[in-house]
Amino acid sequence: MLKICCIGAGYVGGPTMAIVAYKCPDIQVAVVDISSSRIAAWNSSSLPVFEPGLDDIVMSCRGRNLFFSTDVEKHVADADIIFVSVNTPTKRQGLGAGKAADLTYWESAARLIADVSTSDKIVVEKSTVPVKTAEAIERILTHNSNGVRFQILSNPEFLAEGTAINDLLHPDRVLIGGRSTPEGQAAVNTLVSVYAHWVPADRIISMGLWSAEISKLAANAFLAQRISSINAMSALCEATSADVTQVAYAVGKDSRVGHRFLNASVGYGGSCFQKDILNLVYICECNGLTEVANYWKQVVQLNDYQKSRFVKRIVSSMFNTVAQKKMAILGFAFKKDTGDTRETPAIDVCQGLLRDNAHLSIYDPQVTEEQIRHDLDMDNPDETHGRSKQINIVSDVYEATEGAHGVCIMTEWDEFKTLDYERIFKHMQHPSFIFDGRNVIDADRLRKIGFIVYSIGKPLDPWLRDLPAVPPS
Ligand code: NAD
Ligand code: UDX
Repeated sequence: MLKICCIGAGYVGGPTMAIVAYKCPDIQVAVVDISSSRIAAWNSSSLPVFEPGLDDIVMSCRGRNLFFSTDVEKHVADADIIFVSVNTPTKRQGLGAGKAADLTYWESAARLIADVSTSDKIVVEKSTVPVKTAEAIERILTHNSNGVRFQILSNPEFLAEGTAINDLLHPDRVLIGGRSTPEGQAAVNTLVSVYAHWVPADRIISMGLWSAEISKLAANAFLAQRISSINAMSALCEATSADVTQVAYAVGKDSRVGHRFLNASVGYGGSCFQKDILNLVYICECNGLTEVANYWKQVVQLNDYQKSRFVKRIVSSMFNTVAQKKMAILGFAFKKDTGDTRETPAIDVCQGLLRDNAHLSIYDPQVTEEQIRHDLDMDNPDETHGRSKQINIVSDVYEATEGAHGVCIMTEWDEFKTLDYERIFKHMQHPSFIFDGRNVIDADRLRKIGFIVYSIGKPLDPWLRDLPAVPPS
């Protein structure tokens, strides 16, 4: 029986390996992690990752051919194929801080593989890594190999959170990058045979290692660039009374452009886009490609602009101050159908409002109070401004909105489309403001109820139009 071990039981490692085990009953899959609490959660009825459809898949194969363990060494030693799906965050200090990928976790995983392996292995890069990482990993492995032979493959993951199960079951493509040597190609074929259990052959694409590594960074950069492009248009639409949804529809009708990923928003979030673009910028800079680096940097800068523009719009609409006003924050996750808050625009918007001394009442159906307080730095002992008293985290959306001066929609949870807005209007302060950072509500209907509504990239409410233009920062 082919044995797979995946190092890293996070958002990618857990769901990805659950699908491999589900679709390949003839393969034994062990997912290992140094975090004992994460592994305990994977072995419990309350999985550490909220992802629609994941529970059923895990329950159907856990204990059969899917195992979660903290015994990293044993499962690595036993495996034929080792996926490495550890986190690769942005470096916080030292050379390349704020841009380059921090490969500490990857390197320690590679050293462990080298230390405990007594049989030949295929090592698969599942994490998103800088181009040429495979070469560095190869050096670590071969310098400590004790005669064991390793083949490195790049197999980047393209799942999006919230739709991970569907993305994994029906991927647009699976990339497998490998060396062109006979051993490299044999390793590629072994991995192809795993995916061939459920992915059509024409969607499994083999290529060189470096192309596969760059393709992942390029794909995320292109996706984020579409969002920054439509968000740039949203600012122009507001200034000219055009409607960004109509513009996106018109542009997306061109089959060369396509309609997906053109929803204007308060800004993209998530653990990948910003991190991977900054990493790309750093690689370009290291290769002396200043213009290319600056081009991609602008995608991140526009995203920051969009978040701060949203905060300014709120403050300027509400008589230039939100001090002591209750603001209901609806949604905190970076997108719907996930409890993940990494790089969520809600953090920047909440911090902007807190700086202006607003009181926040935050509701999200999936994010815990502990997580929100952590993200807003409220568990920091140096938090001397007493801001934690300005925050209330509630489990009922109507409690969040009761007595509020304004409502900010930060995540496109479906439930926000069907709230009882008449009830909300009645129990809010008047005038009652709604700032829709995701364009999920029917603004015309809410205006009829009496709300003053701001929707990203839409013609401004007369109330907002008559205000002076958003002041410069
Ligand atoms: P994560 O933080 O959720 O999970 C990583 C896990 O690796 C953690 O549980 C951590 O404890 C574990 N780990 C770190 N070092 C380890 C070691 N030496 N031994 C054992 N376990 C170790 O991260 P994630 O979101 O799953 O992302 C993993 C990689 O996949 C990143 O490179 C990311 O860029 C990439 N990726 C993420 C997504 C996504 O949607 N989250 C999508 C595609 C690609
Ligand atoms: C992304 C990539 O889509 C995925 O292929 C990659 O593997 C990991 O990074 P993810 O970050 O999980 O996935 O979610 P995604 O659906 O891409 O959304 C990212 C952010 O962009 C979210 O905050 C989302 O709300 C925002 N977004 C998305 C928009 O603002 N407008 C859009 O049109 C689409």
